[in-house]
Amino acid sequence: MFSRAATRSLAPSARQFSSSASRNFKVAVLGAGGGIGQPLSLLLKNDPLVTSLSLYDIRGAPGVAADVSHVDTASEVNGYAADQLDAALKGVKVVVIPAGVPRKPGMTRDDLFNTNASIVRDLASAVAASAPDAHILVISNPVNSTVPIVAATLEKAGVFDPKRLFGVTTLDVVRASRFLAAVGDVTPKECDITVVGGHSGPTIVPLLSQNATGKGITGEALDKLVHRIQFGGDEVVQAKDGAGSATLSMAYAGAKFTNALLRGLNGEKGVVTPTFVKSDLFADKGIDFFSSNVELGVNGVEKIHPLGELSASEEKLLEACLPELKKNIEKGKAFVA
Ligand code: NAD
Ligand code: LMR
Repeated sequence: MFSRAATRSLAPSARQFSSSASRNFKVAVLGAGGGIGQPLSLLLKNDPLVTSLSLYDIRGAPGVAADVSHVDTASEVNGYAADQLDAALKGVKVVVIPAGVPRKPGMTRDDLFNTNASIVRDLASAVAASAPDAHILVISNPVNSTVPIVAATLEKAGVFDPKRLFGVTTLDVVRASRFLAAVGDVTPKECDITVVGGHSGPTIVPLLSQNATGKGITGEALDKLVHRIQFGGDEVVQAKDGAGSATLSMAYAGAKFTNALLRGLNGEKGVVTPTFVKSDLFADKGIDFFSSNVELGVNGVEKIHPLGELSASEEKLLEACLPELKKNIEKGKAFVA
């Protein structure tokens, strides 16, 4: 279903793979009626590892569910209205959250904080109460703050497990692969790029030097490519001209990450992809959430990989990333405290 490149697995595909692990994956989408939620629900309906889809939104989810449910794959689909959140979460193993407002031209992701922080906090509280063992995938922006908000909310409820919380940064990985392929005149499959840090402008740090094609890009071409990866979201926001931000490519990226997690939960070995998680990599700098390559397994986060070798210019990008990321994380934590 998805190219293996961004999830670096050498193991067989989900269809071929059999294990003693669950293989009974009920997935909920909170915000299923939105620009991301609708195509994401469709793509998840097409994922053979999803056995049941629970679609929730404050508006429109039952209609999306009726529509998606006609697709001829085995999974069942149920839609839930605004007052049915607890029912939507019943028995759910994975919760994907694209609920919240998107940017308009001229806005930063942080400008979304005031609206989205409380949406995400309230949804996390509901997950804590109704599906405390679920894995939570946060798409809602600003991811650098919404993930710490979810963590702090779960912590307050006494159910936080850092192995089960993920900020979805896959769109940055997808963009890095696509944009490098265009510059290097190769296929995206050959451009498996680790993107580390967070998910906004300078906190997005693509490690292009770790890829054979990326290593060959230097000087002005490299600066331009890095800028395009860091600010790819702005391209879409501007082109949509007030009608929102990336939805289709994000749905693709969200389904790709969900599939990677499900493969890990299903017992597949060697599923490794970047994601924004609670991490000790920069704990000495007071930063406790960070995106880097993470191995996904039956319990969620199996292993957080170190960054590996960085070029001099990547060291500089990382230097610029850390203070901004720290500020975003602290803002999220302060909101819940
Ligand atoms: P949208 O406005 O089209 O859809 C959002 C949906 O959320 C709407 O259907 C709305 O009714 C729903 N919603 C609002 N409050 C809710 C609540 N309390 N419970 C359930 N549903 C609720 O927006 P979109 O384009 O789908 O974007 C959604 C979010 O995803 C935005 O915050 C956007 O910035 C973010 N995003 C993140 C990435 C990423 O890479 N992580 C990429 C693109 C967009
Ligand atoms: C993106 O990277 O496309 C998303 O974070 C949406 C945005 O606001 O740019």
